[in-house]
Amino acid sequence: MASAISISGNALSSRSLPLKEFRAAQIGPVVQVSAGRRSRRWAVRAVEPTRMAPAAATAEPPVAEADYEKLAAELERASPLEIMDRALDMFGDGIAIAFRVGAEDVALIEYAKLTGRPFRVFSLDTGRLNPETYKFFDTVEKRYDIHIEYMFPEADEVQALVRSKGLFSFYEDGHQECCRVRKVRPLRKALRGLKAWITGQRKDQSPGTRAHIPIVQVDPSFEGVGGGPGSLIKWNPVANVDGKDVWNFLRTMDVPVNSLHSQGYVSIGCEPCTRPVLPGQHEREGRWWWEDAKAKECGLHKGNISQEAQKAGVNGNGTTSINSVNGTHDIFESQAIVNLSRPGIENLLKLENRKEAWLVVLYAPWCRFCQAMESSYIELAEKLSGSGIKVGKFQADGDRKPFAQQELQLGSFPTILFFPKHASRPIKYPSEKRDADSLLEFISFLQ
Ligand code: ADX
Ligand code: SF4
Repeated sequence: MASAISISGNALSSRSLPLKEFRAAQIGPVVQVSAGRRSRRWAVRAVEPTRMAPAAATAEPPVAEADYEKLAAELERASPLEIMDRALDMFGDGIAIAFRVGAEDVALIEYAKLTGRPFRVFSLDTGRLNPETYKFFDTVEKRYDIHIEYMFPEADEVQALVRSKGLFSFYEDGHQECCRVRKVRPLRKALRGLKAWITGQRKDQSPGTRAHIPIVQVDPSFEGVGGGPGSLIKWNPVANVDGKDVWNFLRTMDVPVNSLHSQGYVSIGCEPCTRPVLPGQHEREGRWWWEDAKAKECGLHKGNISQEAQKAGVNGNGTTSINSVNGTHDIFESQAIVNLSRPGIENLLKLENRKEAWLVVLYAPWCRFCQAMESSYIELAEKLSGSGIKVGKFQADGDRKPFAQQELQLGSFPTILFFPKHASRPIKYPSEKRDADSLLEFISFLQ
């Protein structure tokens, strides 16, 4: 592990080690420098390869949650600069800015620089960022004379995910798994070396999940260096700032921005999961666009989804996720839909001349995409009732899954099959459009 060095608060304009001192820190002995602004001395460590440097042992006494609620109320009308100054002053080298390379994040760095205090910056390099983003890291490091503390995912975990599911599994079964491996776990590791972190979240970024983020809070999801609940504080200095005011600030201060912005990108994440938005579109529409608009939290800020909602299994889009193990809830509950058992669907497979054609959804009650199509599928079943086409469902998760994969062409949930009247093989619905009209059209071509 690298040696620790101490630096003074006013000796540097930034807390992340200037490049040349970082190199010295990797090989050099302990160096004592004079006390910093407000006579405070900082102890900065160079970065371990896989984990961010732990905060110095000069911990502030733990502060009760209520105190942070009070502080958040006090700072509600404060400027981002004032909030940043407060955060850096309170936590010294135990705090770091989470830098995702978007406009808000570079604004955070500019504010930190303006405080004149030293500061640290870390970023989660998922391995799937745009080339423009990598170039921008370099621009920022040079402009602010800092060394960003990059966090990488565990190679074994990425390897296992990609080998088993391919490089683009998030388009099939949602972004959560890949984000967990590439972002959330590395973030957890980074935060275990800190007492507090600073994010660029804004209230108007995501009406569904970010409308109530406070300026400062006890982190509801992650643990800090002290371990245990309440050991990490989360600062959101630009929570109350409009997107356009962030941009006005950047322009005024002549701050460099990611060149992707000039190509229409607003909220920037990983390359396969981010795209430009059109004028008038909400910025989050460019992230994970194939998923529900209100549920777009990748896990870094899952505390934004209310605890009641998380406990109830509500996943941010208002639907309830179901416990398929004890079978207490199910989806596609309608008199117009036949719940097929395993022998039932096996029979359907065997028949060469069926009395009626069937449309069957292979589903898992916990699957968000199945939940999302529930109302359209019920609507379709009601429309088709008495038409000579039966509508069914077959729960295909758990120990039924291998059978469904082998015999029923199950790839990911939901899979929709049409069993024509006079053909033995079911035909798989190839599209992701799962509204009633699209499904009706599909059936009409095969009738
Ligand atoms: S996300 O949860 O949807 O990915 P978003 O991109 O809006 O989050 O970013 C909100 C804040 O989370 C950013 O301003 C930044 O502080 C932090 N953040 C998000 N992604 C990263 C990342 N890859 N590295 C560091 N911080 C990040
Ligand atoms: Fe993976 Fe996309 Fe999440 Fe990046 S944003 S970690 S590529 S799912």
